[in-house]
Amino acid sequence: MIIAIDGPAGVGKSTLAKALAEKLGLLYLNSGLFYRGVTYMALKNGVNLESPPAIIRLAETLEFSLSREGLLVSGRLLSSKELQNDEVEQWVSPISSLVPIRHIVNKNLTKIGRNTDLVAEGRDITTVVFPQAEVKIYLDASLDARAARRFHQGTSQKTLAELKKTLAERDEMDKNKAEGRLQIAPEALYFDTSDLTIDEVCEKVMSVIEKK
Ligand code: DC
Repeated sequence: MIIAIDGPAGVGKSTLAKALAEKLGLLYLNSGLFYRGVTYMALKNGVNLESPPAIIRLAETLEFSLSREGLLVSGRLLSSKELQNDEVEQWVSPISSLVPIRHIVNKNLTKIGRNTDLVAEGRDITTVVFPQAEVKIYLDASLDARAARRFHQGTSQKTLAELKKTLAERDEMDKNKAEGRLQIAPEALYFDTSDLTIDEVCEKVMSVIEKK
């Protein structure tokens, strides 16, 4: 079974996806981590981040695998601290907009989904990566609510106002990609989580899954 979740940054996709994966005993797949993994490795290897061909050349050499502990890139488990630092945060969106990078990541994601039951989250999971998913969910929330959540996560050095600006810019890029842009799949269940706790969202989604 595949449960696919899309939505903008900071909306609570990861919290929901992890909770569902735990409840249902499925593997948790965060597709954003794959784009972050490419970005992290490019930074670590001193690749010129303004040169798409150089990033693509590097990405073609990387091997991705997923364990219950997290994402391994070329055999190395990358920590969430490494994958979520401000430098990765700054570069991941333009890098994820490169069409060849999307193809490399998607090839790896579909390979994992072929033999594994999972809860997968991202921006184009319900539309491009796993259009066959049994359950599709689109999570939404206001910009203010999302900025406040990111601020309280404590992984960034930025102020609340700076985070809000970054998220607004991220939304623009996510919705305007040449391929894999963020959009609501026609058959997706839509939840606005601005005024809901994660437990309330989880309860609503679980009741839909149980009916299936
Ligand atoms: O969900 P996140 O913030 O960790 O995602 C990191 C970046 O990757 C973000 O700019 C959106 C992009 N992304 C994407 O383009 N497609 C996905 N399926 C997942 C993430």
